[in-house]
Amino acid sequence: MINNTPIGVFDSGIGGLTVVKEIMNQIPGETIIYFGDTARLPYGSKSKETVITYTRQIIRFLIGKGVKAIVIACNTASAFALETVKAEFDIPIIGVVKPGAKMAAKATRNGRIGVIGTVGTIESGIYSEFMSQTNPRVKVFGKACPLFVPLVEEGLVDDPVTYEMASRYTSVLLDKDIDTLVLGCTHYPLLRKTIRKVVGEDIVLVNPAYETAKSLAEVITHKGLRNDSSPKIDHKFYVSDGAEKFRQFANTILPCEVMETKDINIEELG
Ligand code: DGL
Repeated sequence: MINNTPIGVFDSGIGGLTVVKEIMNQIPGETIIYFGDTARLPYGSKSKETVITYTRQIIRFLIGKGVKAIVIACNTASAFALETVKAEFDIPIIGVVKPGAKMAAKATRNGRIGVIGTVGTIESGIYSEFMSQTNPRVKVFGKACPLFVPLVEEGLVDDPVTYEMASRYTSVLLDKDIDTLVLGCTHYPLLRKTIRKVVGEDIVLVNPAYETAKSLAEVITHKGLRNDSSPKIDHKFYVSDGAEKFRQFANTILPCEVMETKDINIEELG
């Protein structure tokens, strides 16, 4: 494997860009190839089998682009498919759930943690599983927030409807006296300000993207895959639908300019 080959990152849509942003900040010498499966979003309401199939297809696509490691920048796909694809592909694959769970289990003071995510992520119980491994005394309360992803994808991050939904979703967790809240879907950090307003200043908000980028840096360093040549950064962005809308959105999130986003026909993913 050549160190100056790119890192593959994918999500069902734009949410994974919150992870890309952290990777670009923490390991700026690495090139990213991103895939957003916008034609098949949302993943959060789909079955485990379907999400595993999509994940496999995208991993093959990214490997075909010559990546040296892959980040599943989607909590739902990490929850449903990470273990399966790790056993199937001979390339480092990192998910977002474990790093986020560890961080939250360390951050809590009263041992009561809320997790918000898609229906798939919350019903999988995976956050609770990983958190108990780090801190067996934690109590984890999950709440699925199925309207958040479409609100973000529609650009309604600062809209009264989003405030209303954020308040409804989080009130059941605040009633449980949580002191830490995990943004357990990569779309949710884009709603951070809204969520902060409704939960107040005392709750610790955990964005797993930060720890994920840190884990990625550790894994590629450990495997001798860090880009040690003088970097010629040429990030590439692919989506399965709506390339121009995606490109414009990416430019509001990322620290670099996205000049072009390419549409990939999902039939081609096989
Ligand atoms: N951003 C994805 C996640 O972290 C899922 C959004 C969706 O439902 O497609 O779970």
